[in-house]
Amino acid sequence: MRRPLIAGNWKMNGRLADGRLLAEEIAQRVHRATETGVPPLPACDLLVCPPFTLLEAVHRALAGSGVLLGGQDCHPEACGAHTGDVSAAMLADLGCSYVIVGHSERRQNHGEDDALVRAKAAAAIAEDLVPIVCVGETEAERDEGRALAVVTGQVAGSLPELFEPPRLVLAYEPVWAIGTGKTATPEDAAEVHRAIRGALAERYGAEAAGAVRILYGGSVKPENAAALLGDADVDGALVGGASLKADDFWRIAEAVG
Ligand code: 13P
Repeated sequence: MRRPLIAGNWKMNGRLADGRLLAEEIAQRVHRATETGVPPLPACDLLVCPPFTLLEAVHRALAGSGVLLGGQDCHPEACGAHTGDVSAAMLADLGCSYVIVGHSERRQNHGEDDALVRAKAAAAIAEDLVPIVCVGETEAERDEGRALAVVTGQVAGSLPELFEPPRLVLAYEPVWAIGTGKTATPEDAAEVHRAIRGALAERYGAEAAGAVRILYGGSVKPENAAALLGDADVDGALVGGASLKADDFWRIAEAVG
């Protein structure tokens, strides 16, 4: 049985005080739920992925809460002359156990292709981090009826040869749904998730494919979370804007848990 994962991608938001406060608010909810059972602790894993600058402060604020910490990107190499980059080892050093790779904003704004995403995912695995590999079609690709082909192509190109299930997560984020308020219909999302799981089964075997969590992302809000995350093949969410409010993030978690 796959335990759902609700992951917050804070993107390039928050100064130190904001990040610390948001993390404290999330941790407080966990502590209250654990101690009083009212409201109950959502039956899912919680993960936040703040910008690099906030990792240390957020790690401290989350201590003892069980909320997981992740980075938003990593370099494929462990160290070296790469100005401005951060390695998977550096993230692990700060308490991260996950890292997002191949987000569409990096594919689009930084020209990242499948081969680079695959190398980043492999680098994450080498440092014992769980990579969250993002895939998703553009609006034009969906309109042309190519959504499934594009996404399964990205899955084929962006995943490393070796990983130990369940220590890899996929995130299906239709590019046109990110930050737009538009979402895939639950049926369309479920169709893509099934296609991704089928592609995983062909390449890694049914058991491995069955252990991998596949998240949906793109304008997930408390109001639409239950519908979007209701299908058996949708194992949680990668949440952008709504993860910047502790209450919204928590309500999304409650919708799956
Ligand atoms: P929004 O939830 O703001 O649409 O962002 C989704 C996303 O890109 C998460 O990685």
